[in-house]
Amino acid sequence: VHQLADPACGVDELLRSPLHLLPASGLPLPRDLFGPARPNSMGVDLSVRRDRDALLQARQTAVLPTVAEASADDVAAAAQRSLAAAPAWRRRPVTQRAAVLRHAADALQNRLPAFCALLVDEGRKTWPDAVAEVREAIDFLRYYAVEAERVMAPVNLPAPWPGVTGETNTLRLHGRGMWVCISPWNFPLAIFVGQVAAALVTGNTVLAKPAEQTPGVALAAVGLLHDAGVPSDVLQVLHGPGETVGATLVAHPGVAGVAFTGSTAVAKHIQRALAAKDGPIVPLIAETGGINAMLVDPSALPEQVCDAVLQSAFRSAGQRCSALRLLCLHEDIAERTLAMIAGAVAELRVGDPARIDTDIGPLIDAEAHAKLCAQVERLRRHGRPLWAERPPRDLAVPHVQTPLAFEVDSIAAVREEIFGPVLQVVRWSGDAALVIDDINALGHGLTLGIQTRIDSRAQALATRAQVGNVYVNRNTVGAVVGLQPFGGEGLSGTGPKAGGPHYLPRFCVEQTLTVNT
Ligand code: NAD
Ligand code: ALA
Repeated sequence: VHQLADPACGVDELLRSPLHLLPASGLPLPRDLFGPARPNSMGVDLSVRRDRDALLQARQTAVLPTVAEASADDVAAAAQRSLAAAPAWRRRPVTQRAAVLRHAADALQNRLPAFCALLVDEGRKTWPDAVAEVREAIDFLRYYAVEAERVMAPVNLPAPWPGVTGETNTLRLHGRGMWVCISPWNFPLAIFVGQVAAALVTGNTVLAKPAEQTPGVALAAVGLLHDAGVPSDVLQVLHGPGETVGATLVAHPGVAGVAFTGSTAVAKHIQRALAAKDGPIVPLIAETGGINAMLVDPSALPEQVCDAVLQSAFRSAGQRCSALRLLCLHEDIAERTLAMIAGAVAELRVGDPARIDTDIGPLIDAEAHAKLCAQVERLRRHGRPLWAERPPRDLAVPHVQTPLAFEVDSIAAVREEIFGPVLQVVRWSGDAALVIDDINALGHGLTLGIQTRIDSRAQALATRAQVGNVYVNRNTVGAVVGLQPFGGEGLSGTGPKAGGPHYLPRFCVEQTLTVNT
C-alpha cells in the first residue's frame, strides 16, 4: 500500500502495485491500494499526482499515430479472414481465451503511464480520468476472464424424472461467430476493450470500429491484445467514419452480432439496418445516452448534494453517458443548495488536460463544442442562468467550456442529452413519486440520483424509476466493473449490463446436448 506522504514513491512502485484486483475477488478497491483519498477541489482522488513525472514523461514520448480509413474492399477482406479464423478460436478451451485476457490485463497495468498519456493527448482526458479509465479497462479484462470460465462451463441438467437413467442432458454455450464492435470516443479504451474482450473470451472473432476521434488508443489496445495472444485475424480493427466504415461492417452478411455503444440515434439506425438484412436474425447490444436526473428531497444534505452534483454533472466535462443532466431540487432546499453549488463551481480549475491539477478539461473536438454552444444558446433563450459564465483558466486551450447551469420550467422541457458540462435545474414541491413519473416519461433510463435521508423513500423511488443504475446519496458516475453492472433501458439501451453477470451470455449461442446412453 502506498503512503501518500512518502516522497520517494514513484512510478516503479505504482506499476508494481496490484492496481486492478477485482473488488469482486474480495481484495481491496484500487482506492484503498493507493492509501486514503486526497481530494482535489472536485473531490477526485488525485493520488496519481505522486507519479506526475513519470506520467508527464510518458506524455512527452507519446506519438499519436495516423491511421488509414478502411475501404469497402478492406472491410470485405477483413471479414473473410475473420470468418476463416472463427472455428479454431471457438474450439479453444475457454481457459485459454481467459488466460489471454489476463495477460493483456497484466500488460496494460505495466504500461499504465503510456496509455494514460494517449488518453490525455488523443482523448483530451484529465490525468485522474485517464488513470480511472485504464483501471476500468483492466477490470473489464480480469472480470470477463473470470466470468467466461463461469458461464461457459457446461451445465449438467437433471434427468427427465427421478431414477431415470440412460440419458444425459447438458447445456453448453458457444461463441456466435463474427462480431462487429462499435465504440465511442468518450471511453476510447475502457469501452473499446470491454466490448472486444467480452466477444473474444466467449469464442467470437471481432471486427472493431473505434470512434474516428480516438484511433490511436484503439490501435494501442489492439496491439496489446495481439501481443497477449489473440491471433491477428481473430481481432481486427477498421478505422474511419461510422456512416461509411461502420455501416459497411454492420451490413456484412457474415455478421453474427453487433455490440454498439454511442448515441441513441445511431443505435436505432443500426437496428434498422440489421432488420433489413436477409439471413439470420442478428442480435444487437446497444448502450446509449441518457437524460440523467437527480431528485433531491427536503431532507437531503446540501453539502452532499453539492459534491454529488459537481462530480456527476461536470467531471469529465460532462462527457459521460452517466453524467447528470437534470437536477430536480425540492423548493425548500433549492436556494441554499444552488448557492453552495455556484460557490464550488467557481473554484474548479478548467482548461488544459495536460496540467495535472486540472479538474475539467476540454470537449473532444470542434464539432462537439459547436453543438454544445448551439444547445447553450437555446438554453439562454428559454432558461435562467444560475451563475455568470467565467473564462477558463487556460485560455489558449481550444474547445473548453466552463460549467453552466440553467433553471428551466419543467422536466418535460428537457428534450435532449446535452453532452457537456451544462446542467438544467427544476424546482419541485409535493409528491416525489410524481417527479419520478415525469423523469420516466422522458423515455431514457440510464442513471438516476436520489438524495434523501429517509431510507424508505429512497427504496420506493428507486423501485418506481425505470432506470438502469440508481445511486442514493452519492454521485451518479464511475460504475465499478463487477460491483455496479452498468447500462440502461428504454432509449438508453438494450442491456445486458456491461461489467455484470448477464453480459457474456448475450455473446453466445446455447446448445442443449441430449445423449442416449
Ligand atoms: P455516436 O453514436 O456518434 O458514435 C458512436 C460510434 O458509432 C462511433 O464509432 C461512430 O463512428 C459509429 N457510427 C456512427 N454512425 C454510424 C452508422 N451509421 N453505422 C455504424 N456505426 C456508426 O456517439 P459518440 O458521439 O461517439 O458518443 C457519445 C454518445 O455515446 C452519447 O450519446 C453517450 O451518451 C453515448 N455513450 C453511451 C454509453 C453507455 O454505456 N450507455 C457509454 C458512452 C457513451
Ligand atoms: N461506466 C461509466 C460511468 O459509470 C460511463 O460513468
